[in-house]
Amino acid sequence: MCGIVGYIGKRKAYPILIKGLHRLEYRGYDSAGVALINPQGQLNIYKAKGKVAELETYAADKDTDGCIGIAHTRWATHGEPNTVNAHPHYSESERLAIIHNGIIENYAVLKAGLQQEGYTFKSDTDTEVLVQLIEYTQLNRHVDLKTAVQLALQQVVGAYAIAVLDKDHPDTLVAARKGSPLVVGIGQDEYFLASDATPIVEYTDKVIYIEDEEVVTIKLSVESSELSERDELSETGEPKEESNIDITTINNVQKTPEIKRLEMSLSQLEKGGYPHFMLKEIFEQPRTLTDSMRGRVNVRQDNIALSGFIDNKQRFLDAKRIIITACGTSWHAGLIAMYAIEEFAQIPVEVEYSSEFRYRKPVINKDDIVVAISQSGETADTLAAIQLAKSKGAFIFSICNVVGASIPRLSDSGCYTHVGPEIGVASTKAFTAQVTALTMLALCIGREKETLSQEQYLAIVRELGQIPDKIERVLGQNKRIADFAKTFTYAQNFIYLGRGYNFPVALEGALKLKEISYIHAEGYPAAEMKHGPIALISQEMPVVVVAPHCGTYEKVVSNIQEIKARKGRVIAVVTEGDELVSRIADYTIEIPATEECLTPLLTVIPLQLLAYHIAVIKGCDVDQPRNLAKSVTVE
Ligand code: AGP
Repeated sequence: MCGIVGYIGKRKAYPILIKGLHRLEYRGYDSAGVALINPQGQLNIYKAKGKVAELETYAADKDTDGCIGIAHTRWATHGEPNTVNAHPHYSESERLAIIHNGIIENYAVLKAGLQQEGYTFKSDTDTEVLVQLIEYTQLNRHVDLKTAVQLALQQVVGAYAIAVLDKDHPDTLVAARKGSPLVVGIGQDEYFLASDATPIVEYTDKVIYIEDEEVVTIKLSVESSELSERDELSETGEPKEESNIDITTINNVQKTPEIKRLEMSLSQLEKGGYPHFMLKEIFEQPRTLTDSMRGRVNVRQDNIALSGFIDNKQRFLDAKRIIITACGTSWHAGLIAMYAIEEFAQIPVEVEYSSEFRYRKPVINKDDIVVAISQSGETADTLAAIQLAKSKGAFIFSICNVVGASIPRLSDSGCYTHVGPEIGVASTKAFTAQVTALTMLALCIGREKETLSQEQYLAIVRELGQIPDKIERVLGQNKRIADFAKTFTYAQNFIYLGRGYNFPVALEGALKLKEISYIHAEGYPAAEMKHGPIALISQEMPVVVVAPHCGTYEKVVSNIQEIKARKGRVIAVVTEGDELVSRIADYTIEIPATEECLTPLLTVIPLQLLAYHIAVIKGCDVDQPRNLAKSVTVE
């Protein structure tokens, strides 16, 4: 998830662009760059690895003049975070510059076609392919920039929010979006472009939200601010600014700009209007899972394509054992993966806490595969664990959310989760993306080993495609969960129970509550109640039971009855239409039916929301809980 900013108007663009990038740094910042057309018609691009401040230092002694420009803060998806891969990207002739937020799935095919036409590429990015395609179209079809962008985007599969400059037309800024956000700000003789309104709100409250597959062209003779003959005066005598804005679809169907008023403050805007990053990230999960599966789960072709697996297929087929090493929430994702890999691929799996694994002198063989799971990619114990495994000759496969972080850099292969920066310390969207990636891996191995039937494989792949919408339906119960969360803020202790795939979900739900509300909570396999914890049951200790209608459902119902018989209070997560548990539990939250192996993606959502609301009611600092860090880079 990158941040893009654009400006065209009566003022110097550079200061406005840099300030805009700072506003967007929460979206990710492994590199940043700016492109400006100066009054002499030169197109200057300056880029730097690291935060926006690095870019400012680099550009301090450069020509940053010009009233039109675009800028970008990157969260890498294709290509390592470095200056070459940073945006903006020049076209071959250096006449055009582009910035892009999104993923172009068919960039390799487009790139090969352009290479056959003699185009060369400096970076590993999908974005550079797009700007070359736009230039190629402009030159070979003899069309203007807007039309070249339209025609090029008709060939693109994937998500994009782009802005493009043409140094031969310094009065024109062209932008477009599909699947990634883009908003236009309308000032007085000046216009702003951005991924969201945070860089815009201080200049104007008049915005246009660009829709999917729309192309916006802003044309403004920046030399003079007097009205051009074609500008009409509105009834108030103000210029009707939208006359400088042209919006069409990528198929050149004319659209009418719809100007809206911004009502949010800057702080609210950074959180997307949510009170906390954590709640924003919980609600982002339908989109982030869609992003995570983009280009990997192809429901139309009934297929999963995981490049990290495809490139190392034999390694996985020969593996005698898979060791999963992680910490915290990532360890819970690994536990779910154990169930899936053993069920579908029939490879023995061990799930290790990295901090234990690295010190206990484990037996590690050359034909072992070690899967490291880490949102940050910097967790010291997990990094040390794979260093140990690598020294013993094991193959390292990592599931990470930060391109170019230490753990993926040390790994032999892996899979990025592509959920964008996770700001809330309590991991939510990264967890569901990790589970999705690991499930895809288990399905790929099982399909290749033929330990998973084609019929079951197809059923799960098709159901994976439904999961984002089903999460949306679970999120619809947020208000109800917030309401009954008030009943439980008194509690000093919680127990979370689950079986099978949902035992790790019970652990994850307990961790969520612990780390943001400071209420003590323990997760257990539901059957373990009889082996001690049932002694704890009382009205003072709520019990959360994850009880979807699958697997050992009947046995979970018995566990609930045991709790109720001892006057325990039960919050149950059940499958829509459940009548049995709903009759005996005190509160129920429903999830849509799905494949058993995918239930964690749905059952975890109510637990995330329950923890969030209890913590908020208790007045806790939800995004930065006490004593915790987002990435534990120390031992
Ligand atoms: C999860 O909510 C916690 N923030 C924590 O347990 C986290 O999952 C753990 O520190 C591992 O972090 P990583 O995924 O970045 O390696």
